[in-house]
Amino acid sequence: MSQILPHGGELVNRLATGEQREAFLNEAKSLTTIVINNWTVSDLDLIAVGAFSPLKGFMNEDDYRLVVEHMRLVDGTVWSIPITLAVEEAKATELQIGARAALIGENGITYGIIDVESIYNVDQKEEAISVFKTEDREHPGVQKLLARPSTYVGGAVTILNRPEPEKFGEFYFDPAETRRIFAEKGWKTVVGFQTRNPVHRAHEYIQKTAMEIVDALFLNPLVGETKSDDVPANVRMKSYLALLENYYPVDRVFMGVFPAAMRYAGPREAIFHAIVRKNYGCSHFIVGRDHAGVGDYYGTYEAQELLKTIPTEDLGITPLYFEHSFYCKTCGNMATTKTCPHGKEDHLTLSGTKVRALLRDGICPPAEFSRPEVAQILIEGMAQKQG
Ligand code: ADX
Repeated sequence: MSQILPHGGELVNRLATGEQREAFLNEAKSLTTIVINNWTVSDLDLIAVGAFSPLKGFMNEDDYRLVVEHMRLVDGTVWSIPITLAVEEAKATELQIGARAALIGENGITYGIIDVESIYNVDQKEEAISVFKTEDREHPGVQKLLARPSTYVGGAVTILNRPEPEKFGEFYFDPAETRRIFAEKGWKTVVGFQTRNPVHRAHEYIQKTAMEIVDALFLNPLVGETKSDDVPANVRMKSYLALLENYYPVDRVFMGVFPAAMRYAGPREAIFHAIVRKNYGCSHFIVGRDHAGVGDYYGTYEAQELLKTIPTEDLGITPLYFEHSFYCKTCGNMATTKTCPHGKEDHLTLSGTKVRALLRDGICPPAEFSRPEVAQILIEGMAQKQG
């Protein structure tokens, strides 16, 4: 079996190098500039390296509208999350369709260039309801969406300077690199794991259950923007390293980060997450309870249900679905209701709030919930945040 094809068939590459890059950088000096925040810089970079294949740029109006309404690009490819460039109305009047604009970071770095192909106004409430299933401003994804201007600019992009990771640079791999690495290791089947949390025993259980049937695990934590009460990426990274060192077979796991922002779009984001991991070269993707969810906005298995509506051949990566996992005191092991006959009173479940309270007080949650090496790192991380 050869390696899985990227979404849409080809890995997009929008990186300018050498003379072409110099020429673009020169040209950028005289172009209209669009200032982009870190979130948009990360989207630009992920488009450029092909993580968002087949997207070659920020979405044009026709793709945007179809994605919002039907989760498809104009050419019929499945795509569930709008990837867009928002600009102030005044800025939009400076732009011209058919011309280029320079994409400048808030730090003054010229990150890239966009070929302006469309400029359009959107109804963000409609977008929120379609993508997030709510227009509630308390929802962190909706909040971000509604804080942006409602004029979008679509068009192909070229990246001229890549964003530099502040830390853990050795865990940044582009899809072309992960694909090469998986092939070199001889892995035919690789399961991708998305996470924005520390890996607790439930996560470990579903990862290892999946590892029983595939060649390897691609631990792919999201390290882009998350909401302020999520555990910061640098603390999580330390915890992942401790976990891998102590409990995972080195020759069957590969860790690389996913430098995207978290949307908290639950079911729609699960589809997006699966597609992106296919681009990184994964053949399988784990979807457990309330994937990419937040608060009570989505049902426990709603992400799984939406994924199941996408024809297998259109998705192109195999989702592996897991029920809510827990430690069962009577079974004496991790389980789900699929494998454990005992009642809730036998199951060890701790809410996120409870776990955070324990960690804040310097107390390790039970080892059946979290590995002590992981808990210790989280306790230190919490202490630093408070101090
Ligand atoms: S997410 O927002 O990135 O989905 P998280 O890092 O908590 O959040 O979850 C990573 C993956 O593990 C998701 O597929 C999620 O559904 C799954 N998951 C998390 N906790 C459990 C659990 N207790 N049982 C089963 N699956 C879980």
